[in-house]
Amino acid sequence: MYKPEMNGVVYQIWPRSFKDSNDDGIGDLQGIISKLDYLKDLGITTIWLCPVYVSPNVDYGYDVSDYYNIQPEYGSLSDMDQLIQEAKNRGIGILMDLVANHTSNQHPWFQAALKDPQSKYRDYYIFKQGKNNKEPNNWIGLFGGSAWTKSNQPNEYVLTLFTPNQVDLNWENPEVRQEIYKVMKFWMNKGVAGFRMDVINIIAKTEGHPDKDPHKKGYQFADDLIISLPKSHEYLHEMYAEVLSKYPGLYLGEGMLVNPQSCASYSGFDQKELDMMFHFDLVLIGCGPLGKYDFRKLYRWKPQDFKSIFYKWQEASYKDRFWMGNFLSNHDNGRSVSRFGDEKKYRLPSAKAFIMSTMTAYGTPFIYQGEEIGMTNMKIDEQDWKDFEAISDYKMLQSMMHLPAFIAKKIVQKMTRDNARTIMQWDDGPHAGFSSVKPWFVLNPNHKTINVKHDQQDQDSILNFTKELIAYHQAHSVLQQGSFASTMTSHPQILAYIREDEQEKLLILINLDHKHATFKADNYKEMRTQLCNYSTYGPMVEKMVFRPYEARIVQLVGQMP
Ligand code: GLC
Ligand code: CA
Repeated sequence: MYKPEMNGVVYQIWPRSFKDSNDDGIGDLQGIISKLDYLKDLGITTIWLCPVYVSPNVDYGYDVSDYYNIQPEYGSLSDMDQLIQEAKNRGIGILMDLVANHTSNQHPWFQAALKDPQSKYRDYYIFKQGKNNKEPNNWIGLFGGSAWTKSNQPNEYVLTLFTPNQVDLNWENPEVRQEIYKVMKFWMNKGVAGFRMDVINIIAKTEGHPDKDPHKKGYQFADDLIISLPKSHEYLHEMYAEVLSKYPGLYLGEGMLVNPQSCASYSGFDQKELDMMFHFDLVLIGCGPLGKYDFRKLYRWKPQDFKSIFYKWQEASYKDRFWMGNFLSNHDNGRSVSRFGDEKKYRLPSAKAFIMSTMTAYGTPFIYQGEEIGMTNMKIDEQDWKDFEAISDYKMLQSMMHLPAFIAKKIVQKMTRDNARTIMQWDDGPHAGFSSVKPWFVLNPNHKTINVKHDQQDQDSILNFTKELIAYHQAHSVLQQGSFASTMTSHPQILAYIREDEQEKLLILINLDHKHATFKADNYKEMRTQLCNYSTYGPMVEKMVFRPYEARIVQLVGQMP
């Protein structure tokens, strides 16, 4: 179903690094409240708030130990009520993060299950006997190593697909599902605008948990045994009937290893499951088939590769009537300007160009905190690493892939989730305006020049361009629901597509390359440039030369002869 909220623009907040209000060096809810005017001014309509529930923080909030309370470091339930209300007053909705595939091993359900083998909470999780004094099967966890962790009983294990401290919930158990629906209703009743659902396409596991195909490489996880199983749809249909259909809101799912077809089955307009999905094909560009730390393609890619992934998803989404959230960076991936653009020589035009692609694509645009000022990755020293996945894969790269430590380190520094979690750069002060004390995590020294305050004062800044793009997106229905058609598909540098509705027709042209690009513009009667990421530009003519990363929204008037 098409919902008006899907026409909005979402801003993702990773609270720990966003803004500290009480000088303990940790971002918090009051910090977010103090920046709501900034967000309102940016023009966004929705915030996706990464988890703020009580958590031992092994996976920074994705290991929840109490779904009904706020992590004390971040504030209290009344701070949360205030955030919801203050956001609402500014026309902004808050999406919570629903982490429902697993809980922390500190969650009372799991603690009860450990304490008493007769407890009903045993069946909330997936306990299993070991086989031949080893794990019950050969599944590999998503952060490396076995997917099983020893329980407190001899020869007994529990399924932990992420860190060993995140225990997978048993969605087969109807009581577990009811508990999750209860959590959702609790927050919806508090006035949140919906949920982003963490790894929602792996909640079902193949019955009996058979071994994965032994021909799959050692560290390949059991993708065919957990991803998008038919049961995951049964559960989501039930969730739709019990919660989503009764609580108007926006519901989006994180899809692991999804393809257009599987996304269509979750967020198809007639599906009665979710409103939209995320895919990760763009952020995994240049990676080998095993994902982020599969370095065998050396993370090299060409504009053509970006184009074909982009077109594939956009065309499918439009033609097959399913809806996607579009993004190029988030808390699990590096900064978009470092990953896709040129963070040194062409930081400004390339950051702007890629934000333009997100903001003009078919689907709902997402921007991640700091992306609006072109924050970059940072070579984080090994002693500062926090990301469990990166630390675990660092070991794996050396032990299983036999890489020397200095190369493994380079790969980790490029791909670690820590890149996205450095402190938000508000100003050029000693702690970047984030806090008055030393923040909990590293701050990129480039905050002296890359920061919000600077961008607010510079008319040509990435921030001001992002604002213009958001305003344009909000003012032009064609960018919300208009059709999508790719064009110039074989051009080696330019990403080009047409969005059209009854009101108007727009041609988006983005040079994905650090070199000049020449092309012949279609011969429309008139081609009016509406927005360009360079401050000076000539008119659109038949023979065009685009500068490095030049990007334009062009209004097409009249028919081709
Ligand atoms: C999702 C989250 C990630 C987390 C994982 C396990 O991928 O985005 O941050 O580590 O799920 O919850
Ligand atoms: Ca704080």
